[in-house]
Amino acid sequence: MPSVQGAGRAAGDVGSGSPDGFPVLTDDLGILYGGDYNPEQWDPQVWREDAWLMRAAEVNLVTVGVFSWARYEPAPGVRDFAWLDEVLEVLAAQGVGVDLATPTASPPAWLGRRYPETLPVDVDGVRLVAGSRNHFSPASRVYRDHALAITRDLVSRYAGHPAVRMWHVGNELGQVCYGEESAARFRQWLQGRYRTIEELNHAWGTAVWSQHYASFDEILPPRRTVYHVNPTQALDFRRYSSDLLLDLYREQRDLVRAVDGTRPVTTNLMGFFPLADYWSWAPHLDVVADDSYPDPGDPGSPADAALTGDLMRSLGGGRPWMLMEAAVGAVSWRDHNLPKSPARSRLEALQAVARGADGVCYFQWRASRAGAERFHSAMLPHAGPDTRVHEGVRHLGADLRRLRAAVGTRVPARVVLLFDWESWWAAEEQARPTARLRVLDRLRAWYRPLWDVGVAVDLAAPGSDLSGYDVVLVPQSYLLSEVAAQEIERAARAGAQLVVGPFSGVADGNAQVRPGRFPVLLRDVLGVSGEEWVALPDAGVPLRVGPSFARSTSGDDDAPRATILGELLRSDGAEVLATFATGHLAGLPALTRHVLPDGGGSAWYLGTVPPAALLARVVGAALDASGVAGVLPGLADLPDVEAVRRGELLFVLNHGAAPVTVPVPAPATDLLAGARCRDVVEVPAEGAVVLAADPTESP
Ligand code: GLA
Repeated sequence: MPSVQGAGRAAGDVGSGSPDGFPVLTDDLGILYGGDYNPEQWDPQVWREDAWLMRAAEVNLVTVGVFSWARYEPAPGVRDFAWLDEVLEVLAAQGVGVDLATPTASPPAWLGRRYPETLPVDVDGVRLVAGSRNHFSPASRVYRDHALAITRDLVSRYAGHPAVRMWHVGNELGQVCYGEESAARFRQWLQGRYRTIEELNHAWGTAVWSQHYASFDEILPPRRTVYHVNPTQALDFRRYSSDLLLDLYREQRDLVRAVDGTRPVTTNLMGFFPLADYWSWAPHLDVVADDSYPDPGDPGSPADAALTGDLMRSLGGGRPWMLMEAAVGAVSWRDHNLPKSPARSRLEALQAVARGADGVCYFQWRASRAGAERFHSAMLPHAGPDTRVHEGVRHLGADLRRLRAAVGTRVPARVVLLFDWESWWAAEEQARPTARLRVLDRLRAWYRPLWDVGVAVDLAAPGSDLSGYDVVLVPQSYLLSEVAAQEIERAARAGAQLVVGPFSGVADGNAQVRPGRFPVLLRDVLGVSGEEWVALPDAGVPLRVGPSFARSTSGDDDAPRATILGELLRSDGAEVLATFATGHLAGLPALTRHVLPDGGGSAWYLGTVPPAALLARVVGAALDASGVAGVLPGLADLPDVEAVRRGELLFVLNHGAAPVTVPVPAPATDLLAGARCRDVVEVPAEGAVVLAADPTESP
């Protein structure tokens, strides 16, 4: 059976994959390991040294050609692939597979010079120029035709090459263009969505501020305006821009598939990237692939990276994904680029595997001497192989070989967090009760208590079938469709614990506020409803936790303070667990629980932003009520330790600076150290154990 499988196919997709996805790399290669390789920056004798060092480090896949367009096509219509023939031969001779990229992320300078319309235009109408990368408009037909022409020749030449294992379209697709050609495509997209201009006027609420349109020709992208832009126009432009990039991807992918119907095709996503709706993209990727650069200076980054890994797994419906690019040490694009120890780098790689990755690759193999990324870390630093970083790279190759048992396995989760891009976009448009309520902040805050106790969680787009989950968490789904609300309610009435956060279910699909007491579509199941959104003062507002939810012993959250936003709520049957103690909302509910009849679960509602400790108690109570426990007892007392069960393996990752001792649930072998353990095991500082239950011993 295939292991890294397709994320599923949308109806009508081109391609010849079986229902199980494309033939897989990992059955043959094990966990994919490698990085971006840019041989055009080096002389041929360096290629040989690189391939030899790759083999020594157990690298089995490198992404080649991401930025090679100018080298392939030095002048319009000219082709130079001879150098790539040699590169592939050199890599194949050392058994290194290639993820061959279409070179379309960075067009040659001549393209923009000859065809200025291929260059992107920003929100102020400024046409951007060559000299960096990504200087193309995804809307430009001329750009696309040139991109297809070079892709066609590349793919035709290398489709049967034994080194080529996978195809990679473009790089981090994320461009937005406000120019004329993009405006024309936007109008077509709107016509497809609304059919008539009156339908659009209705959806956009153009009666406000005299924005009525007489025809689609009058409509522009949301370029720089005098004052706040129409929020539905802005939302639709984001939807359109995401669809446009997906269309660009699919155009090249279809071309690749028409020539090579067997190897997987992907592109590299960017986690919670704000400019593309990856739920809509995922069905078109044979392998979900992500670029992830946790900030070593941010103490929250281990949990955030775990959340991103869970998103990637969830995008593929639980199937294995791959970490396509990460940094082995410091990046060079932050203002102040903190380094990473080899131990930390290894830990991040193991974390990705724990969260469902069957591949770990980096940007990049050999550090560039020139160009904008000359100070970015690489698997092979400027100082060469005799370095701490490269030694770590070789060790990681061996570690990943030892984890072959993880390949193709899943991370079971009984908890789901709802998240989607449309709602994120709509919730953060201009002019709302508070700009401080940020969707990703809330998502991360709600994820944290789960991470802390080792409870696995999937992410799902609202509207998904939630019936497999025992706990459904809705931190902030501002824009909520009727279908999504029905699924949420159905899950709660069928017995799940449901927890909903503030500013949810506010708007419909057109980003228009639903009339009535909010959250209109969920108020029955929640047994609570509201009428005002209230920005809270900077100092926050004390909450009074009622006796039924108060702690039995005193703790530091006995006088929790709510911040950012409070809602003026009324219980319509829910039990009030906490109220606002002072201010505009004094005495009114802040936290409620509605116990549902006939085998239903409970529906909890948080009408404010509580401090982390109180949020953890609410989430913890929902977990307890449904009998969901973490994979390792006592984890809550080890704040830097993460535990995940993937398939039969238990990953315990210590992100802290001191070793910890954790219990071993059953006699097991640590696959990394090759050591047997029973009862307890020590996990080194910035280290990990991966426990495989020992079949020869009974507990
Ligand atoms: C992303 C890009 C790479 C490189 C790295 C730097 O992953 O895809 O080309 O720029 O960022 O961190």
